[in-house]
Amino acid sequence: MTDVQQMQPAWLAGAWKETAKSFPVVSPFSGEVVANVADCGEQEARLAADQACQAFSEWRGQTAFARAELLERWYQAMLAHDQEIARLMAQEMGKPVSEGLGEVRYAASFLRWFAEEAKRVAGEFLPSQSARKRLWILKQPVGPVYAITPWNFPAAMVTRKVAPALAAGCSVILKPAEESPLTALYLARLWAEVGGLPAAFQVLPASDPAPLSRVLMADSRIRKLTFTGSTEVGLMLYQEAAKTLKRVSLELGGGAPVLVFDDADLDAALSGVLTAKFRNVGQSCVAANRIYVQRDIYAAFSKRYAELAEQLKVGDPLRPETQIGPLVSRQAVDKVKRHLEDALDRGATLLTGGRTEGLTVWPTVLADVPREALAVSEETFGPLAPLIPFGSEEEAVQLANRGQAGLAAYVWTRDLRRTLLTSEALEFGIVGVNDGVPSTANAPFGGVKFSGLGREGGHEGIAEYLETKFVSIDLP
Ligand code: SIN
Repeated sequence: MTDVQQMQPAWLAGAWKETAKSFPVVSPFSGEVVANVADCGEQEARLAADQACQAFSEWRGQTAFARAELLERWYQAMLAHDQEIARLMAQEMGKPVSEGLGEVRYAASFLRWFAEEAKRVAGEFLPSQSARKRLWILKQPVGPVYAITPWNFPAAMVTRKVAPALAAGCSVILKPAEESPLTALYLARLWAEVGGLPAAFQVLPASDPAPLSRVLMADSRIRKLTFTGSTEVGLMLYQEAAKTLKRVSLELGGGAPVLVFDDADLDAALSGVLTAKFRNVGQSCVAANRIYVQRDIYAAFSKRYAELAEQLKVGDPLRPETQIGPLVSRQAVDKVKRHLEDALDRGATLLTGGRTEGLTVWPTVLADVPREALAVSEETFGPLAPLIPFGSEEEAVQLANRGQAGLAAYVWTRDLRRTLLTSEALEFGIVGVNDGVPSTANAPFGGVKFSGLGREGGHEGIAEYLETKFVSIDLP
């Protein structure tokens, strides 16, 4: 980490630029200021938009193979600096370094996947009804992109958006979350070091995203918005995007249900549901939010689940053994506490946890949580696991499909019929069957209902950044 007094500049217009103001990035574990970062506003947004348009003409003109090679070099650079990136994440948003190292590999895998996908973007020649005509379908980049990323995966959410955009030939202006701009700026440094076209990727940190977003959302030259964050903000941005008819990808709130059936491999279910809940201290859009367990195995599951949660190592995210670090903010801690108190008031039983210190919340497991409790009906985004018994398969699916969100759902079963039928019936974009971490660069990630629009990752991920052009040729 550099001198905290010195401003960390923005990566703007192909250069490191200081701004009139800066804002502090504060460690949620120690409360110390870890850096002061350039604070971008309207002026920087206008410059970035001009530069993104210029860079777009140049970047799209490079061959897919040249773009792929740069992404591959960026991938190698990320892996070579995994320790530095993991430490930055631990400092700025509290992710334990052991987990951060895993995130670096996950984040880098988007660079490699989309480097490969860049070379597979192809059009078609269609047969025509007329012997004289040829029908040509072309895929072309949509144009300059505005990307807004969250703090919970400071590296992976950047690469999941930026890699497909750059692979497709788009330029990108990134506004990282105000809590975690350092990782994004570090990625920009690596982009410059590996020889990436400087202004094809710009990083504009901002303490208040509103002025910057106003400019970029109103600019009709910015052709695409991609956002990961809350449903509330996503809906506002969707309305704004309509005014300039931008393409949109929205990855919004989750509140994932888990269904553990009585035929499940209990050991596998316990370990999988533990990861699905406590990965990133529950701060993930796909985190298990409400855990439904079939009545026959409910008592055994609850007891062992609480024992496992109690064994998770809580502490300083910079220590290698830590599994549970702090939450990102006081607001996040207050929400967990509110959900805990509400569940207890409604008659739930505390099996373990409930303790908080600073912004750290110990893994908390609640049994017999009423179905109306806030911890069930709202997304907690923290280390609180509400366990709820259910009877039949039909009831389980009906409980899981309750509510507006539809990002991820999980099922534990060894029954093939149940695997197929529940996967089909669950109204979610992602279903993990006996799998607590289904996210991967080569598969589509995204939700239905109020969880968003579009997909990231997989073949679908790059399609979000491509337009289709139809050329009809009448031969002389
Ligand atoms: C998210 O929380 O949006 C990302 C989680 C993941 O990629 O698994």
